[in-house]
Amino acid sequence: MRRKLVVGNWKMNGRIAQNQALLEALKVGVKDLKHADFVVCVPYPYIAQAQSLLQGSNVAWGAQNLCANENVALTGAVSAYMLTDYGCRYVIVGHSERRIQFHETDDTAATRFDAAEKAGLTPIFCMGESADERESDWTEYVVGRQLDSIIRRFGAAVLSKAVLAYEPLWAVGTDIPATPEQAQKVHAFIRNRVARCDANIAKNVQILYGGSLNPSNAAALFAMPDIDGGLVGRSSLEVNSFVEICKAANQECVTA
Ligand code: PGA
Repeated sequence: MRRKLVVGNWKMNGRIAQNQALLEALKVGVKDLKHADFVVCVPYPYIAQAQSLLQGSNVAWGAQNLCANENVALTGAVSAYMLTDYGCRYVIVGHSERRIQFHETDDTAATRFDAAEKAGLTPIFCMGESADERESDWTEYVVGRQLDSIIRRFGAAVLSKAVLAYEPLWAVGTDIPATPEQAQKVHAFIRNRVARCDANIAKNVQILYGGSLNPSNAAALFAMPDIDGGLVGRSSLEVNSFVEICKAANQECVTA
């Protein structure tokens, strides 16, 4: 059975003092939850802080982006090995905010994905359609194209060491979450598309839902057969909300 995974995406939030309070409370809040896995993806400057506070706990830490290159003249860039030096296990790749505001393409996201895996990181690869694309009935076309950008270049086998995330753009940061049924439909589409290449990998790959996930909708989303956890933005910044979401994931694994 696939384990549930809850990943907090802090985006560009945090300060040293508030991070410390949040991470310490989070450690305590999830320490007895043994049936699901938990991660926080923090801004680069706070990765060392996350490492020192979370080491030895059941919360892993990661980054929100990486550069695909290594030891080159690229001002401001951070490589995969810099992340592993600080104990990161996960890195978000291809988040819609980066695709839109930093002009990442399917191609550059795929290159980052590959660099992450080569360094031993687990990429959390984000896909999702805009509101206009959904209205035009292009959801499967867009999500399929994003997924294929990985499979075509590297083969489906690389998904055995990755996590996928469906994050409809119209749900991210909007307070308009996908309904469990809407999300399930796309998750099933993603899993079936992977299964066309490799049924075993499709069965095992974790597919997270992200977009206005909160303590009141988490349990219903996590109860869907193809939703294996969540990528959580705003609700990961408030420790009680995040712990509630973690508990919902853990509970789903206990009862399933
Ligand atoms: P949100 O963000 O939970 O604030 O909607 C989710 C994400 O972008 O990962």
